[in-house]
Amino acid sequence: MYNRIVLLRGIGMPGLIGIDFGAINIKTGYLKRGKVHFVKDEYGSDNLENVVFISKRGDIYIGKSAVEKSMWNSRNVVEDLKDNLKFTGSYLLNGKRYSSADLVSVIFKKIKDIYERISGNRDVNSFISIPPINPLEASCLLYKAALDSGFKNVSLLEEYMAAYYYFLDKFPENGKVVLLLDFGGGGIRASVMVRREPLPEVIFAIYDRTVGGRQIDQKVTAYLVKKFYNNTLIDLMKEPFGYRKLLFESRKAKESLSYSNRVNINIPFISANANGAVHFEEKLTRYELEELIAPLIKRTLLKLRAEMVKYGIRVKDIDEVFLTGGSSVIPFFVREIENMFTFSKLIVDNTGKTVSNGLMVFKNISTAGHVITASRSYGIETYMGEYYPVIGKGEILPVVKRVSVTTVRDFQRAVKVKIYSGDKKRARNNDFLEAVELRDIKRARRGEPTIDLYFFIDMNGRLKVLVHDLDTGRLKNVYFNSNKKEIDFGSFKGKPNLKVSSYAG
Ligand SMILES: Nc1ncnc2c1ncn2[C@@H]1O[C@H](COP(=O)(O)OP(=O)(O)OP(=O)(O)O)[C@@H](O)[C@H]1O
Ligand SMILES: [Mg+2]
Repeated sequence: MYNRIVLLRGIGMPGLIGIDFGAINIKTGYLKRGKVHFVKDEYGSDNLENVVFISKRGDIYIGKSAVEKSMWNSRNVVEDLKDNLKFTGSYLLNGKRYSSADLVSVIFKKIKDIYERISGNRDVNSFISIPPINPLEASCLLYKAALDSGFKNVSLLEEYMAAYYYFLDKFPENGKVVLLLDFGGGGIRASVMVRREPLPEVIFAIYDRTVGGRQIDQKVTAYLVKKFYNNTLIDLMKEPFGYRKLLFESRKAKESLSYSNRVNINIPFISANANGAVHFEEKLTRYELEELIAPLIKRTLLKLRAEMVKYGIRVKDIDEVFLTGGSSVIPFFVREIENMFTFSKLIVDNTGKTVSNGLMVFKNISTAGHVITASRSYGIETYMGEYYPVIGKGEILPVVKRVSVTTVRDFQRAVKVKIYSGDKKRARNNDFLEAVELRDIKRARRGEPTIDLYFFIDMNGRLKVLVHDLDTGRLKNVYFNSNKKEIDFGSFKGKPNLKVSSYAG
């Protein structure tokens, strides 16, 4: 009896969480006894709202509490973080500047804390979905933020691929052509794929952010503002408190209208005039909502059709449609899809967790070896001519890795990063790919300037390198197009032009 042992909590295998960084909701899954569970916020919700609020004292609120605070002070709130996953630019909140990476890192830290509390595990790896906007920079930034918030290992997968793996797991079938639609809070993702084992063949993947749940809310709010003005001559566009209240209620009204034909919107004391308090009392019908959103949705579906034509996919080629995302329950949207296609199967996932679930599914598959890996290693030459591999051979794709470099001489003017591929100890014995020169770096003693190099290999095996000079904030992207190198030197950015509480990049 006395010689038995048990592992101390927190020792052993690192925990793993899968984060879906949504425009509106962040969903985090983790595995427990082979089943996917979700990290809950302090209100017991699986959705952590992607909202950050900074109080006058500098306290940081995240999620629902940030939403509540923002009702009274809409200037010190960030709600568009997912649209601004960039290294340049920053948010000015209560007189202090915050980069996107800072704010994402605060959110990740909160998620990690909650997970640590429920699992007792302090070693945590994270698996994050790659957003569709500017995926190279967004991936590098999420990777950095995750490392900054203490995750041990960070891996990434495209959002639509994660969603695909979720559906694949639930409804396995080979050879079928699927259209995957994720209609979320920030936009619509559409991809056409052929189901294959072990990897799907992606025909195309597009993203349209002219219509998402948020854009619909704004449209509804603008419509109600007009109605209210016609009745009261009060313009809520000019009243931040009233506007925010109405925006909030518009979202709720829109959501109810997916299940009912009519809602009443009542907001007491929304404004005031010479006669005293004025209350907001309006009704909204599903018909009115559809009139508002029909042009938006139709335009997106036309873009999808155009893309299909480009790739030679006819409507009748689509065997199945996978539907996901919070906004995909909108009856008008479903009707349009049903009218447009002649598929044999429509599979809908309304759980809101398709992507985070899919990340965990992929992780399970990837341990079984059903993945694409880097066929060679990629790295840089260091001072003494040695080769330093940044991405090792066999890493599961897509992958991001970072290495930080500095100068070897005092007051060095420029740095030159030589990128190689191979496995030899000496850099020059490997395949030379490219030299990237960064001029006008900070004039400082050797070892002081810091330059971060991010190596990113996408699912197609294409290497991209992002060079970030931390002292000047400058960025440089280098794309490698299989054997041919394609270099983009156009991404130098000047000093950000900052505005209060809105993102300047
Ligand atoms: N019943 C409903 N009817 C219409 N819209 C809804 C309903 N329920 C939720 N939504 C909307 O779904 C959106 C959130 O969906 P989801 O969680 O999929 O988005 P997200 O992942 O945060 O965004 P994205 O994937 O675009 O970055 C919100 O805009 C919300 O208002
Ligand atoms: Mg989403």
